[in-house]
Amino acid sequence: MYKIKPLENLKKEISIPPDKSISHRAAMVSSLARGKTVVAPFLMSDDTLATLDCLKKLGIKFKLAKDATLTICAAGMHFPRKQKVQLYAKESGTTIRILSGLLCAQKFTSVFKAAPLLRARPMLRIITPLREMQACIKGVKRAENEYPPLTISKTKKLRSGKFKLKIASAQIKSAIMLAALYADKPTIIREPYQSRDHTHRMLSLFRADVAKRDRETIVNPTKKLISPRKIFIPGDFSSAAFFIVLGLIMKKSELLIKNVNVNHTRCGLLNVLERMGANIKIMNKTNDYEPYADILVKSSTLRATTVSENEIPLMIDEIPILCVAASFAKGRTCIFGVKELKVKETDRIKSMVSNLKRAGVDIWGGACGLGNQGIVIGGLGALKKAKFNSFSDHRTAMSLIIFAMASGREYALDNVKCINKSFPEFLDVIKSLYS
Ligand code: S3P
Repeated sequence: MYKIKPLENLKKEISIPPDKSISHRAAMVSSLARGKTVVAPFLMSDDTLATLDCLKKLGIKFKLAKDATLTICAAGMHFPRKQKVQLYAKESGTTIRILSGLLCAQKFTSVFKAAPLLRARPMLRIITPLREMQACIKGVKRAENEYPPLTISKTKKLRSGKFKLKIASAQIKSAIMLAALYADKPTIIREPYQSRDHTHRMLSLFRADVAKRDRETIVNPTKKLISPRKIFIPGDFSSAAFFIVLGLIMKKSELLIKNVNVNHTRCGLLNVLERMGANIKIMNKTNDYEPYADILVKSSTLRATTVSENEIPLMIDEIPILCVAASFAKGRTCIFGVKELKVKETDRIKSMVSNLKRAGVDIWGGACGLGNQGIVIGGLGALKKAKFNSFSDHRTAMSLIIFAMASGREYALDNVKCINKSFPEFLDVIKSLYS
């Protein structure tokens, strides 16, 4: 059991680790560009190390130094591996879904295995479009879907396509984009709502012929990618989000978070918090291939807001921590269109609603509208002592720790090991706030 004590007097400057989504993409795309690429700092977490482990089995040579500098040496658009390979994604959905797009174009068979939570997450969302591109890919059939392990075999030639996605998902979009590099003609992907665009930015950095118009992404086949040689990865906005909310809901706080990625397709939470009356300043912005800035947060009196479905993909990983912010706000916050939360590491509607309810928050989650889901948060009731259950989900665990620190009471949480998935230094940063 991890015990969480109330925090007082928050006045600090902190840094958070490099972005997880960008780290995955930097490693994968560097593995396709001839020569050496230095990625620094690279996120050293369970998920991103799973990607590196797969790349190693695919024949990519790299060195990861203790100071988080990753040096990759690659041969070109095809992995050096010649024979059948067994890969293990651990619990990393981004590893299995995005890398599968590249594996479809290789000349050997890959068997892509996964750890228990990931084995329960749906894969048909990438399998269907990749099959339309003539890829040979299959999972384990269950009910209406397919699940890991995935088997991906050699195909003659990938065919381009025009895809109108039903789900706004960067993982689906990225799997198609990476396969499209090897297709015969341009591929067009249209999303129902804009999702994060890191793959587009990373491929542009490697001079691939890609274009973007609103919700439409176009990828032209590419014979070679040209390495920028050095890639800087800014801090992860999703990791910063826990501390942004902590700074807002604590009394008399002032928190400066350095060098955070502020790509607008990731920072939907900032718009929502601004509507809630948050005192947040974005400072010292640098416009690199991914923009980054310092974020200054001060205690704020938050008021409720309504979040609509089109905003969700821009803050898909921040809904658990938004539930915490809304618990401390005045009035009733309604978050619509969150059915994708049901297929994350755990059902995050259930995990947040059951835990916060147990602590005394007025919160409801469930069916809302045609096949969609919503969460309604009415604020703090009489706070009760509670033992929290992380459901082995990193973002649920970190959100509950923030809630507990700001609530003025002691709470306990069952499992904090899962936090290593994205933010291994989280508990050290938390500890530093008490000193
Ligand atoms: C990710 C995309 C999101 C997000 C996940 C990382 C990515 O998933 O939840 O943590 O790196 O592309 P979906 O695209 O499936 O929503």
